[in-house]
Amino acid sequence: MARIWVALLIFPFFWANSLQAQTAMVNVAGRNTTSLNGNWQVIIDSGGGGDWRQFWQEKKPQKKTDFIEYSFDGGPMLKVPGDFNSQRCELTYVEGTVWYKKQFNYTLKSDKRLFLHFGAVNYLAEVYLNGEKIGSHEGGFTPFQFEITNKVKEGENTVIVKANNNRLGNGLPSYGFDWFNYGGITRDVDLIETDITYIDDYFIQLKKGSLDTVLGWVQLNGTKATQKIKIHIPELKLSYQTKTDSKGFARVEFSSDFQLWSLANPKLYQVIVESETDTVADEIGFRCIEVKGNKVLLNKEPVFLKAVNIHEENPYKRARAYSTEDTKILLNAAKDLGCNFLRLVHYPHNENMIKEAEKMGFLISSEIPVYQHIQFSDSLVPQKLETMMREMVNRDKNRCGVVVWSLSNETYPGTPNRNEALIELTQKCKALDSTRLIVHVINTQGYGNNTFNVWDPLYNYSDLVAFNEYIGWYIPWQGKPSETKWNIAFPDKPVFISEFGGEALYGSKGPTDEAAYWTEEYQEKIYKDQIEMFNTIPNLCGLCPWLLFDYRSLGRMNQVYQNGYNRKGLLSENGEKKKAWYIMHEYYKKK
Ligand code: GCU
Repeated sequence: MARIWVALLIFPFFWANSLQAQTAMVNVAGRNTTSLNGNWQVIIDSGGGGDWRQFWQEKKPQKKTDFIEYSFDGGPMLKVPGDFNSQRCELTYVEGTVWYKKQFNYTLKSDKRLFLHFGAVNYLAEVYLNGEKIGSHEGGFTPFQFEITNKVKEGENTVIVKANNNRLGNGLPSYGFDWFNYGGITRDVDLIETDITYIDDYFIQLKKGSLDTVLGWVQLNGTKATQKIKIHIPELKLSYQTKTDSKGFARVEFSSDFQLWSLANPKLYQVIVESETDTVADEIGFRCIEVKGNKVLLNKEPVFLKAVNIHEENPYKRARAYSTEDTKILLNAAKDLGCNFLRLVHYPHNENMIKEAEKMGFLISSEIPVYQHIQFSDSLVPQKLETMMREMVNRDKNRCGVVVWSLSNETYPGTPNRNEALIELTQKCKALDSTRLIVHVINTQGYGNNTFNVWDPLYNYSDLVAFNEYIGWYIPWQGKPSETKWNIAFPDKPVFISEFGGEALYGSKGPTDEAAYWTEEYQEKIYKDQIEMFNTIPNLCGLCPWLLFDYRSLGRMNQVYQNGYNRKGLLSENGEKKKAWYIMHEYYKKK
């Protein structure tokens, strides 16, 4: 009886949002969760019959003459989390629909609420609970949730998820992208039980430019909006008190003598956010990241970004990475190369990656897949841009390791509405979080007569002049690298080479001066020449080779040297160091 009252109290408030996935609450790891990871029954629906047959109804024959031409029973199982392509060979190249089913038993107490939370599903997810659609989500790399307080049954419940990784013209990304389109429920699935009023969100980071003052907020969700809030940092014997307003919002501002998070000492503090009805604990670091003139400053000290690009792929499993073990393979390899900065491309990576990287003392750029040919003039795209940006920022805004929000990669000024849409997106991102750097990664620079002309309207809205250049691979040198000339339209901004490099098949032998043989020597030469050129770049604040490991991309079909792999890795997919690795390692060692 009591539960019905509660449902009725909050029902009107939440009905409107029920079919739209909700923005996920922050810090799932610090909550009362029940994992739904593990084996899920599946139906591989390459024919697309699941919609008109309504697989989520799980019809059963009612009478002898009835026959139902689908069932989860008798079908294969897939592991969640995990992409579906790498789990069964018949799914290797599938871009389509797989239906997932999981059953769980639950008893929800009357004074509690329940949420179904997904770390990520690539690309479109439609979610059903006990035969009823509870909502959908678009976007393969950010979390989302649904409130199921008034939908969960006492005892056995059934979740069915339609996961579809078909490419969408007005999608993010759109049709063309140079990585493997791993589909499925690729990250954790959890049930999260909360109090009727719970701590939905908080932002606890140093104020822009400060080394000792936190400026943030706490947001409650529920009927008991006005509550006392305490923020404890036991190690600092700090206990800050404030109160939420009638909308459940409280501004937070306090100072302390923090041990700052730094590359050498990635210090994290246990931070406890407490309200009268809920408590959430987190591990948070405090650091200050800024651009001053042509320098990037970490805690007021100039820092040179010794970076590398990383795709979210476990090279040894040939699968989408998600676990802490997966991330450690990538992070240890980056550490081994001598990096202090990771450009995680071209989509928000899993939380394990962010948290482990932060613990290991890496600065991080997190990016949304606004990649090359985006249909900016499509009426749905601006909202998709904003939603994905908010989901990325929302999840990682308390991760001090994340210092850059990267909002686009290689989009073209000539594309209708590109500038307008991305300028608006930048302003919305800055309004959400003014403490981090924002960049747009460009490749529209001109290169003629051994001279670069670097200009793009988006640089007016970027904290760094970041660009990708493949001189020596896609574009031949037009003179001595050491005599390269530069016309950069933003002479006072730091310059970041966000991608450079070339391909080599580990162990490939052949004339070293010909790209055609994909030799390590040819790639090594590209790196040597690039380093020559780097010495000519004004305001250079960092470099980011493309990329750490060879990785899968179906567009790469030279079947002698690539075989579905982009071979620009400094490491092969077996972790073998190519000659160019040593050049980069040596350069970073000296930097
Ligand atoms: C681009 C792009 C990458 C791509 C790389 C390449 O610059 O950003 O995603 O993989 O070039 O061509 O290898």
